[in-house]
Amino acid sequence: MATQQRPFHLVVFGASGFTGQFVTEEVAREQVSPERRTSLPWAVAGRCREKLQRVLERAAMKLGRPTLPSEVGIIICDITNPASLDEMAKQAAVVLNCVGPYRFYGEPVVRACIENGASCIDICGEPQFLELIYWKYHEKAAEKGVYIIGSSVSIHAGLCIHDGTWKSAVYGFADKSQLKKLRNESHLKPVPVVGPKLKRRWPVSYCRELNSYSIPFLGADVSVVKRTQRYLHENLEQSPVQYAAYVTVGGITSIIKLMFAGLFFLFFVRFGIGRQLLVKFPWLFSFGYFSKQGPTQKQMDASSFTLTFFGQGYSQGLSPDKSKPNIRICTQVKGPEAGYVATPIAMVQAALTLLNDASDLPKAGGVFTPGAAFCRTKLIERLNQRGIEFSVISSSEV
Ligand SMILES: NC(=O)c1ccc[n+]([C@@H]2O[C@H](COP(=O)([O-])OP(=O)(O)OC[C@H]3O[C@@H](n4cnc5c(N)ncnc54)[C@H](OP(=O)(O)O)[C@@H]3O)[C@@H](O)[C@H]2O)c1
Repeated sequence: MATQQRPFHLVVFGASGFTGQFVTEEVAREQVSPERRTSLPWAVAGRCREKLQRVLERAAMKLGRPTLPSEVGIIICDITNPASLDEMAKQAAVVLNCVGPYRFYGEPVVRACIENGASCIDICGEPQFLELIYWKYHEKAAEKGVYIIGSSVSIHAGLCIHDGTWKSAVYGFADKSQLKKLRNESHLKPVPVVGPKLKRRWPVSYCRELNSYSIPFLGADVSVVKRTQRYLHENLEQSPVQYAAYVTVGGITSIIKLMFAGLFFLFFVRFGIGRQLLVKFPWLFSFGYFSKQGPTQKQMDASSFTLTFFGQGYSQGLSPDKSKPNIRICTQVKGPEAGYVATPIAMVQAALTLLNDASDLPKAGGVFTPGAAFCRTKLIERLNQRGIEFSVISSSEV
């Protein structure tokens, strides 16, 4: 990537937001990492200079680096002012976009980045936005040779989540019909189903392996994984994997609580006034999972995440048409608090992969899922080194 000509290798847009402040801290940490051999000029961007300065001062205090605010650029730009977005994008090699909900604010940033030759990474969990951006901008991004990576992380779970994510969910569910329409209009050739069709567990199932009830995970994961599988199948001739995502919820009491919350939620998102109430009182309507204050440092320190994957497949040479799957594998990804510790780590490492491992990225630019963009890079190694651990728990022949 053409980083040398740009004043800033990384620009954190929306640094004053709840998530943006932690992404800012993470870039500051990375800047002085002992493994770093080259300098990392970077900037924060947003619409209010004072807020950005305060974020840098807080990061300086937390990291014990009083000179930090003077080492970091500040760019003032507002989503409603396209010229200011162009100015930001012109100065950046990679923009880390933390301004959401992305359905409202994301597209102008993608457009400015493509037109001005910057790559862009977001942490979006909204499938409609991610799929729309692919359809509208993949060709343009490829022409310009920039990488637009949507949903660089999808590990949002925790004891308490900031209401920025709640808003994205409220408006995302309210507009679900648009996602259906978008998919119908795309007329995509289906990706082949290899082996027996994966059965959906709906609405509640018991997961024996994890000793817990589980419900389908309604975030962007399935959409993102399906797009990755399509890319791997169509571009790298890999056999596509069928995928479903669930979240464990504990015992029967949690199921009942969640069912009530879910029914309330699905009823309220249908009406304008309902959406206003949901956005105004996140704590009340989510039974305390989402709040305007977000988690405290103590809550984040006490929290962690585990993703467990159960897979089945075929050993080399065995035909999926004639036999049953004969291999089982269980893998895990574990790490610190998901939304505001692991997410910034993953976002920043993804950005550094774009900067440093260019030869392992897809040849031309474009709009990619993380799996498609980074499948041949050392991103997993980078994450392992920073406390997000990928491991194989067991692998056996059936
Ligand atoms: N995938 C994951 O695991 C994950 C984790 C965390 C967050 N997220 C996503 O990240 C997004 C942000 O969440 P959050 O909780 O950090 O939200 P937030 O605290 O509300 O932050 C929003 C940011 O957007 C900025 N902004 C709003 N309008 C703007 C405009 N017109 N021009 C420029 N900047 C503007 C705000 O700036 P001001 O400070 O000036 O208002 C603020 O910096 C959400 O979409 C959320 O779902 C995803």
